[in-house]
Amino acid sequence: MTENPPTRRERTIKPRRIRFRYPVETYRHHYANDDLVLSHAVAFLSAVFPPGEDFFIRSVKHYRADITDPELFDQVAGFIGQELTHGREHRELNDRLQDMGYPTHNADRAVTWVFARIDQLLSPLTRLSFTAALEHYTATVAEILLTDPKAQALLGETEVRTMLLWHAYEESEHKSVAFDVYRAMGGGERRRVWGMRLVTAGFIIGVILGTAVSLVRDRAAYNPIRLIRSALKLRHLPFIDRRMWRLIGEYNRPGFHPTDTDNAALLERWRTELFGEQGALTPYLR
Ligand SMILES: [Fe+2]
Ligand SMILES: [Fe+2]
Repeated sequence: MTENPPTRRERTIKPRRIRFRYPVETYRHHYANDDLVLSHAVAFLSAVFPPGEDFFIRSVKHYRADITDPELFDQVAGFIGQELTHGREHRELNDRLQDMGYPTHNADRAVTWVFARIDQLLSPLTRLSFTAALEHYTATVAEILLTDPKAQALLGETEVRTMLLWHAYEESEHKSVAFDVYRAMGGGERRRVWGMRLVTAGFIIGVILGTAVSLVRDRAAYNPIRLIRSALKLRHLPFIDRRMWRLIGEYNRPGFHPTDTDNAALLERWRTELFGEQGALTPYLR
C-alpha cells in the first residue's frame, strides 16, 4: 500500500496502521552509536513516550466535545490515533530494551505516576498548555532528525531507525493540533509560556534523573573515564545543540504558532521516502 500526497485539505492528519517487528538477537548493548550515556538516555526517552502520549491524548480529549471547527475536530481524531499507535509501538520496543537491561518498565511506571498527579492537581487548560509545549519539543526534535543527516546517522540501520523516522514524521505532521485546541479553548499567552517553562524544567530534571537511575544498573558506567567521556560527548549531539534550544525558545515569542516553521516541503519529501512506492515504511503499512 502506498500513500498519495494530501489533496483537498492540506492539513489532514490520519493515523496509519503500522507494526514493527524488532529482531531479538541483533542489538548491541550500547545500541546508540556504541555510546554509553546516549544509549541510556534514548532508552529512557523511549520509555517515557507511552505514558507521555497517554497524557497528551487525555488532555486533548477532554475538550473534544467543545471543538466547533470541523477541520480541527477531524485533526484531533487523527492526532489521537497517531499518538495511540506511537505509544503501542514504543511499548513494544521498550519491552526489548527491558530485556537488554534498561529499566524501561520502572521509568514508564514512574512517569505514569507523575502525570496522574498532574491530572489531579492542575486545571484542564494548564494540562493542555503542557501538552502543547511538549508537542513543540517532539516536533522540534523530529524536524531536526528529518533535516540533519548527522542526526539520522545516530539511528543506526536497524528496525529502530525506521520506527523513529515514522514517529518523527507524524510528530511534525500533527505539530499544531494540541496548540490549536489550546487556542480554540481560550488558552492565553501567559499560561502558554509558563507551561513551556515548567515543562522545560521538568523535562531536563526528568531526563537527567531517569538516565542516571538507568546507568546505575550498567556495570560499564562504573568506569569513571568512560562515563565522563561519554557524558561530555552529548554536547555535540544535534538534538541538544544551540540550534535546538533556539527553536525551542521560539515558542515563548508572543504570537508564536507551530506552523511559523513551515514543514510542508519536508513532509512532502519524507512522504515519498517513507510511504511512496519504494518507501521504507510501505511494507509495514497494513
Ligand atoms: Fe508521538
Ligand atoms: Fe505528538
